[in-house]
Amino acid sequence: MNDLSALDSLPDDFLWGAATAAYQIEGAADADGRAPSIWDTFSHTPGKVAGGDTGDTACDHYRRWPEDIAVMQQLGLGAYRFSLAWPRIVPHADGLVNPAGLDFYDRLVDALLAAGITPFPTLYHWDLPQAQQDRGGWPVRETAERFAEYTAVVAARLGDRVTHWATLNEPLCSAWIGHLDGAMAPGLTDLTAAVRASYHLHLAHGLAVRVLRETVPGARIGIVNNLSPITPASDSEADRAAAVRADGHINRWWLDPVLGRGYPKDMLEVYGVDLPVRDGDLDLIGAPLDWLGLNYYFRQIVTADPAGPAPHFRQVPGPNPEHTAMPWEVHAPGLEELLLRLTREYGVERIYVTENGAAYQDTVAPDGTVHDPERTAYLDRHLAACARAVAQGAPLAGYFAWSLLDNFEWAYGYDKRFGLVHVDYATQRRTVKSSGRRYAELIAAHRAR
Ligand code: GCO
Repeated sequence: MNDLSALDSLPDDFLWGAATAAYQIEGAADADGRAPSIWDTFSHTPGKVAGGDTGDTACDHYRRWPEDIAVMQQLGLGAYRFSLAWPRIVPHADGLVNPAGLDFYDRLVDALLAAGITPFPTLYHWDLPQAQQDRGGWPVRETAERFAEYTAVVAARLGDRVTHWATLNEPLCSAWIGHLDGAMAPGLTDLTAAVRASYHLHLAHGLAVRVLRETVPGARIGIVNNLSPITPASDSEADRAAAVRADGHINRWWLDPVLGRGYPKDMLEVYGVDLPVRDGDLDLIGAPLDWLGLNYYFRQIVTADPAGPAPHFRQVPGPNPEHTAMPWEVHAPGLEELLLRLTREYGVERIYVTENGAAYQDTVAPDGTVHDPERTAYLDRHLAACARAVAQGAPLAGYFAWSLLDNFEWAYGYDKRFGLVHVDYATQRRTVKSSGRRYAELIAAHRAR
């Protein structure tokens, strides 16, 4: 996208941001009272993370946050999406608050506001305190109740300055990848535990919404889901049925309950697990939200997999040869498709793209610059997809690039780089990549029009 006209439809008050998450960037894993999370346990378990990488140091953001806010200002960001580390704030099962943990976010929020950057915190981005996991984790209701208490602690400290709140980031990954596939913390492969975890994550969301509504005047509350357009690998009845199950597993199970539609009946049958519903739960879970966060990376082409685990589908490669370093297919029309589905099928009234970005193998040139034309092209194409969706009526209010910084990419460790800003992990030197400079150009041009 050489000219900016492709973005003309984006609203004047469009929010331009970038996103990170606590365990992926902060480091300082045992500083100032922080206790282990399930990701500390998982990453320190041999064989779970590529190269044996852990979040012990990451981008050392816990100490370098002033420098990182300066980079955000250099890019011209209007908002910064980050996550609050529950294991810093309420580290143990005794429920006692760790003041030093809260102090860190208090300083961060004040500095963001002073820099003219809107704080956009996520209460939970996968780093469940290990102490809660030891008491059953997300498969048990108590964890949702402890989450509500943690939310109240955070709201009391930050609610006077923070308006936009995301309760959960990608509960799909916490439940399905963490409890069914096993490739993420806590690394379980148990369908019943996964379904119960999904339910209690939703209950935690609902309880947190109630707490925020009661304690933060004018709170603008949302939830962040990673969604994928689903395409059957063939026109066979088996593959078309697999696509319906995949859509239920990846999209509808995560949208319907929090948008007041209850759990998809077809998926309840597929899973065959009774939900531990109590009176009033579904109304809590489906309480009105102010916005919905969409994390988009790729579409999924699926085929029936009757021999595989429920829900009996598997992803197959598509015809498009263009992939990122993950390797994920580059398919920008999928973002437009999802934005229009949220608008037309779900009637969502305000959407943020809360994550979109790409990993590519970056190199630092002899002059110290990082030229990443593939990531720049990815950014241009996906922002153009956003603008096309807005031109067709999608109520898109902002876009957060994933990610501000190269960071700990979960089970892939530090090998996969998503940042607009390169991080040299040996020196912790930050270098704005050419994609970051392009993003800054787009932001400036949008504001100047
Ligand atoms: C996710 C998480 C991020 C990832 C990013 C790239 O969407 O999985 O929110 O923490 O790092 O998406 O995988």
